[in-house]
Amino acid sequence: MRVEPYEKVWMALSAVMLLGFLGAISVSVFVHGISLPGATPRLDPRTVPQEPHFASPGIYQTAPGEYEVYLVSMLWSFVPNEIRVPAGARVTFYAISQDVTHGLAIHGTNLNLMLIPGLVGTGTAKFDKPGEYLFICHEYCGLAHQTMAGKVIVEAKP
Ligand code: CUA
Repeated sequence: MRVEPYEKVWMALSAVMLLGFLGAISVSVFVHGISLPGATPRLDPRTVPQEPHFASPGIYQTAPGEYEVYLVSMLWSFVPNEIRVPAGARVTFYAISQDVTHGLAIHGTNLNLMLIPGLVGTGTAKFDKPGEYLFICHEYCGLAHQTMAGKVIVEAKP
């Protein structure tokens, strides 16, 4: 069988690329310890209203400058939909859906979660600049999807 010289080059390049990708994956797994997300807390979406933290969703201060927000999403709103924190606050969000899949993206931060029924989405954002940070649902969830929004109000320190 005759192999064209160009074909040989492409075959060699493909092999090199495959080895490169395998190498990159191996380094990320064995050197940096990167893996798929493990078991996350699961909730039964039907009993969400009774779960301890989500029974009274809202903002909780855990330490000076540290907050936790328990957020419940549903067709077509977030509870709470207004979150007030002082500038410099580090806020960890725990968010769930009570019905269908929703999303949570907070403008001006890199917090972006998918809220899948039965899973708790978590992420942390730091709010250094005073102002209003809009958050929206970014997963199409039905007729009034586009109205599903809220805001984080970051107040200047007195
Ligand atoms: Cu909720 Cu779109």
